[in-house]
Amino acid sequence: MRHNPIMHETTEWNGFPTTTYLTNNYGVLHEEDMRIMQLTADFYKSINPIDSVIDVGTGPNLYPALTLLPFAKKITLTDISESNLKFLREQTVSPSHIWSQYWRMLMKHDRAYRSGLYPQKLQTVAVRKHNILTATSRRYTLATSHFCLEAISNQIDVFMNACKRFTELVHPDGYLVAVFMENSTHYFVDGVRYPTITVNQTLLLQIFGRLTKNINIVRIPRSKKPIRSGYSGILLLTAQRK
Ligand SMILES: C[S@@+](CC[C@H](N)C(=O)[O-])C[C@H]1O[C@@H](n2cnc3c(N)ncnc32)[C@H](O)[C@@H]1O
Repeated sequence: MRHNPIMHETTEWNGFPTTTYLTNNYGVLHEEDMRIMQLTADFYKSINPIDSVIDVGTGPNLYPALTLLPFAKKITLTDISESNLKFLREQTVSPSHIWSQYWRMLMKHDRAYRSGLYPQKLQTVAVRKHNILTATSRRYTLATSHFCLEAISNQIDVFMNACKRFTELVHPDGYLVAVFMENSTHYFVDGVRYPTITVNQTLLLQIFGRLTKNINIVRIPRSKKPIRSGYSGILLLTAQRK
């Protein structure tokens, strides 16, 4: 395959094809996403109550917010892309029918997901433009990110900077929940190639081992009906900032 280096500076995030990405990735509820939601729900419940949460690079993915709804007082969804931010602002007020299947799954998983929380509490979720590569906040109780940190560019130093700044979003002892595509090199949306860093457990332990404590990585194997081509599994990292 031809090597095609793409740096974050040259990726046109504002024009990200939000609707196509939503349909391709979240139109049906995949086994891997179900497992991520169950595992993160259990983690959030174990540390409940959570004062403030930031989700980094939310894109069109509303399930991190849905999973957090019973456990977090204040949720802020962030992204660098104007098209994703516009979509998220609409979705928090009037969510697409797509998300009903995700909420039903959560209701089956745990009684904390009672009716009345969704979609009403979703309206309290904030949406904000935010570039993780220049982030400086240290005030959140928990930071989460799904498939974003490894998908900013294909440059390892950019990835390391994103992981460091992601960790620094929370106060010391604050919690981190990050989900990565394992061994992905890129993906396509509407024929446009988007970059990723090739992430594995060793690399995550190298980077987050220095920055965090109580680190735990769960590997979710790629299912028979994968989300897309070009990855070998999902890595779900939980940790606390040192
Ligand atoms: C592969 S998508 C993942 C989207 C979503 N979190 C999901 O679970 O499907 C990568 C996301 O990272 C966002 N992103 C790229 N660079 C970023 C940056 N520097 N700061 C914040 N978000 C960024 C993109 O706009 C896009 O929404």
